Amino acid sequence: MSVQVVILAAGQGKRMKSSLPKVLHCLAGIPLIEHVLKTAARVSTKPPILIYGHEGERLQQAVANYNLTWVEQAEQLGTGHAMLQAMPFVSSEDHVLILCGDVPLISEKTLQRLIETTSKDQVGLITANLSQPFGYGRIIRDAQNRVTNIVEEKDASETERAIKEINTSIYLIPCGKLKAWLPKIKNHNGQQEYYLTDIIPLALKEGVVIHTIQPECEEEILGVNDKIQLANLERFYQAKMVKSLMLQGVTFYDPARVDIRGDITIGRDVTIDVNVILEGKVIIGDGCCIGPYCLLKNSTLGEEVEIKSHSIVDGAIIGTRSRIGPFARLRPETELAEDVHIGNFVEVKKTKIAKGSKANHLTYLGDCEIGQDVNVGAGVITCNYDGVNKHKTFIADDAFIGSGTQLVAPVGIGAGATIGAGSTITKDAPAHQLTLSRAPQQTVENWQRPQKIKMKENR
Ligand code: UD1
Ligand code: CA
Repeated sequence: MSVQVVILAAGQGKRMKSSLPKVLHCLAGIPLIEHVLKTAARVSTKPPILIYGHEGERLQQAVANYNLTWVEQAEQLGTGHAMLQAMPFVSSEDHVLILCGDVPLISEKTLQRLIETTSKDQVGLITANLSQPFGYGRIIRDAQNRVTNIVEEKDASETERAIKEINTSIYLIPCGKLKAWLPKIKNHNGQQEYYLTDIIPLALKEGVVIHTIQPECEEEILGVNDKIQLANLERFYQAKMVKSLMLQGVTFYDPARVDIRGDITIGRDVTIDVNVILEGKVIIGDGCCIGPYCLLKNSTLGEEVEIKSHSIVDGAIIGTRSRIGPFARLRPETELAEDVHIGNFVEVKKTKIAKGSKANHLTYLGDCEIGQDVNVGAGVITCNYDGVNKHKTFIADDAFIGSGTQLVAPVGIGAGATIGAGSTITKDAPAHQLTLSRAPQQTVENWQRPQKIKMKENR
């Protein structure tokens, strides 16, 4: 069966109360539409067709790295009308798999089951039994349990409203047949919309069987219409991700207080304290220990790395047994080798630090190359920016940079060099020698501290 995915996403999403198109709101850090596109790519190799209505440009920008066929539905006249817009772009030999842009968690597994169990001349439909079916189209079945119709909430009788089985709006339909049915749909209903669901009686007239399956869990088919539903799905998704990591052996101090927003690979015997956010592509090696309130984004940690509380690690590579934080900030293109220590209130950017080096307190290291076993004292600042260009600082092995030193780049510190505390280093410092630039200390004799002048009382 050749499957063409069509994603319905022209609805405005009024209930989100937002200027951002609904499908661009994020779940686990990724726009809703991207969740659907990722799943679509796993069930079909053909570029999906996306039916959009509002803010086409913004949508196109947001998912620019996906190969899609964009089809505009200028006026939202209903799901049947939306599908009609897609018809010129699909081949009659294909089967269309209809997904919704605002139903982000439909699983590949359930879609594969729909594709595998629906025969070529049937209509496949995912239905679900909800304890709260309000708002959904209800599935009407006959005495033989065959689906005969779908009735929308607004058009349903009281008995029909009592039905718990609902239409998820995920279908698999032979395209040739759909092309014939869609133009026959009328908008004579409570909402004066062209309902895609009206293909069901048309299919029946031609003796086409409606084959239904149910998802593995309810959350797979839940849509996002408002911020509450979005938050509920977010929590469901987070719980699922954390569970799968725990099954891989990760220890979370509290599985409810962690957020996973990306592609996470975690080794054995890793512990993660509360309120940690893992974002983008994060790889954490065996035996690492992540303290509370840390953000780890697009970074790779070797083995037994310790990230202490309140640290931000963004776009960094950290070597085995290195210790970061508390309150450290590693920025993109930071590469730390083994046994490096970065302490509190230290910011590191675009800097390579070799094995065993330390910068333990209140320091900025930007655009540096630092050798092995270097000691960077408290309050050392690289002055890497002259207002126009960025310049590099080189510090060779075993150098010792005294506290409060400014290294005005471009500048180099030789191997084993010692820089006296409080120096402003503007020229290269030679290896194995003490270099310092410091105004001589003086004591002013008989100096009087100024006194406060007493005011007159009646002023
Ligand atoms: C539709 C179904 C209903 C089902 C429900 C599941 C119809 C008539 N009803 O309800 O049986 O239970 O989905 O969520 O099909 N859209 C467009 N263009 C339009 C209208 C909608 O692209 O003109 C898109 C929306 O962006 C959304 C999807 O279609 O992604 C479903 O539309 P929505 O309004 O959420 O669903 P209902 O019409 O209420
Ligand atoms: Ca609607």
